Amino acid sequence: MSFEIRPLSDALGAEIVGLDVSRPLDDATFARVHRAHLDHLVLVFRGQRLTPQQHIDFSKRFGPLDAHPSQGGAHLAGFPDILVVSTKRENGKDVGVRNAGPTWHSDLAYRDRPALGSMLYALELPDSGGDTGFANMAMAYDALPRRLKDAAGEKRALFSSTRNTSLHALHPVFRTHPETGRKSIFVNPQLTAGIDGMDAPSSSSLLAEIYAHCRQPEFVYWHKWRPGDLTFWDNRCVLHIADHTRLDDPAYIRHMHRTTIAGDVPF
Ligand SMILES: [Fe+2]
Repeated sequence: MSFEIRPLSDALGAEIVGLDVSRPLDDATFARVHRAHLDHLVLVFRGQRLTPQQHIDFSKRFGPLDAHPSQGGAHLAGFPDILVVSTKRENGKDVGVRNAGPTWHSDLAYRDRPALGSMLYALELPDSGGDTGFANMAMAYDALPRRLKDAAGEKRALFSSTRNTSLHALHPVFRTHPETGRKSIFVNPQLTAGIDGMDAPSSSSLLAEIYAHCRQPEFVYWHKWRPGDLTFWDNRCVLHIADHTRLDDPAYIRHMHRTTIAGDVPF
């Protein structure tokens, strides 16, 4: 099956044009998609029309799925592998996770095995707002001043869920990608509680310096969603954030389905 790979920015990201992922991919096509994902870190499959089961089947080509430990029934009825990310309300109740990803993070970093990646499929979009920012943490690591690399060195950090603090794990501040061998910055402002073995003020000031570095525009691509976009990020070396500045506006409707692919223990 032929398709085009078009880079989206200097930081990361490529759109995949002309590939229908609702149907099984032959092995050669899958290998090319997999290579593109490792090269570009974020892939945007344009113009998809996916049932929940097709979304799940395509996601599973990359590995077993990991049900998100979401509280309060944010999963799609009948599809525990699909997390609903939505600003919609029905009968006064949120239909999914309403304010998903309000600050920079990687998914499930508080688990022993954080996600390999997530696939987010846009079903309904607002006329403005709701963009997703993606930041290349391998590029950010390469450009990190030596002083900060040495200060964090081989240290580990504690990651904790903001919704359920009983979910936590220790992972390296800088992790190595299990497939490419590239190092990247893994700590993030939403889920990192502190650096192991450092006093709280020293940990906070070091993390603040690392985060200020990571937020520089040359590492970031802002995705403006189109209906039918299926976006797949490499959660091992990418941070992401959603722009929900219009969250309280009733006209702001953003409705998506997400699958999460299980990952490895970071090293
Ligand atoms: Fe997320």
